[in-house]
Amino acid sequence: MKHKIALIGFGTVGQGLCEILLSKENELKTNYNFEGNIVAVSDPLKGSVYCSEGLDIQQLLELVLANKSLEEYSCNKDCDGCQKGWDAITTIKNSNADSICELAYTDVKTGEPAITHCKTAFEYGKNIVTSNKGPGALMYNELKEMAEKNNVAFKIEGTVVSGTPVINLAEGPLAGCSISSIKGILNGTTNYILSEMEAGKSYDEVLQTAQDLGYAEADPTGDVEGFDAMAKVIILANVLMGGNISANDVEREGITKITADMIDEAKSKNARWKLIGLIEKTNSGIRASVKPEMISMTHPLAGIMGATNALTFSTDLMGDITIVGAGAGKIETGFSILTDLLKIDEKMKRN
Ligand code: HSE
Repeated sequence: MKHKIALIGFGTVGQGLCEILLSKENELKTNYNFEGNIVAVSDPLKGSVYCSEGLDIQQLLELVLANKSLEEYSCNKDCDGCQKGWDAITTIKNSNADSICELAYTDVKTGEPAITHCKTAFEYGKNIVTSNKGPGALMYNELKEMAEKNNVAFKIEGTVVSGTPVINLAEGPLAGCSISSIKGILNGTTNYILSEMEAGKSYDEVLQTAQDLGYAEADPTGDVEGFDAMAKVIILANVLMGGNISANDVEREGITKITADMIDEAKSKNARWKLIGLIEKTNSGIRASVKPEMISMTHPLAGIMGATNALTFSTDLMGDITIVGAGAGKIETGFSILTDLLKIDEKMKRN
């Protein structure tokens, strides 16, 4: 049974997923009996195309690479007639997709339009897989409940640390452990900036490079003022620690007040500044923060440099478990979508 997929948004992540589906087509079929069939792509800038029988992924990627509209797609399948120009909502409602990959732009203040996309998908009995932090950070519990009522999945592995398994690790292999705290480096841009400042570069110069390298959000204020890490902290608290917190419950400070002098001072104390996200269970509930911390060089998080992310889970049965990996990237985030699709596919085949 082919898994029919609609992509809402065809930016880096959607293209990354498509590249993986192409390059691993045989491996995915042989090892996981998974056949990803992209039936629709809808992007407000790049155009939209739907074919009930499935689109040719190579052709989609070639059109985008050539800066051409997806509406120039030419179908060679025996279908009822491809549709062009469908917006996101029409695609979610009218396509025959089993799963909608919500990969539109992230707005962590309103969560829109992604939240509406998720709700519409659930109403129409379709699974959602997303790396968009808005829905998870603003209304995870409500959306999860809505998905469950409609007997579909709401999967968000890619919202925290791209495809580095964090949510799946806690829900899968660590199931049965109780997590008392999660602490770590959740934003690659700021870790990259702090690493480069330590090497003697100026804040402005390094921020520009982080943007050029594609680590930083479209508006880098989200990174440097700690909003991006805050969204991830909220998701981790609510998804993995039974919390129901929002932005008002997170103490937040970014890295913009860290000066070259402060970095030198830390060095002289055999320490390093890191932007640390922390979620702890306390007697009075969940305590969450994002703020710069001077970390001793002997601490495992001090050695995490560049755009890499790292998280330590403190658990009752396994003590501390640390996972280190990429927090962003085309293939890495594309993989986060694939890993959730594989889980949904396995469940669909069991039912
Ligand atoms: N801007 C983010 C970061 C990308 O720097 O970590 C992934 O959310």
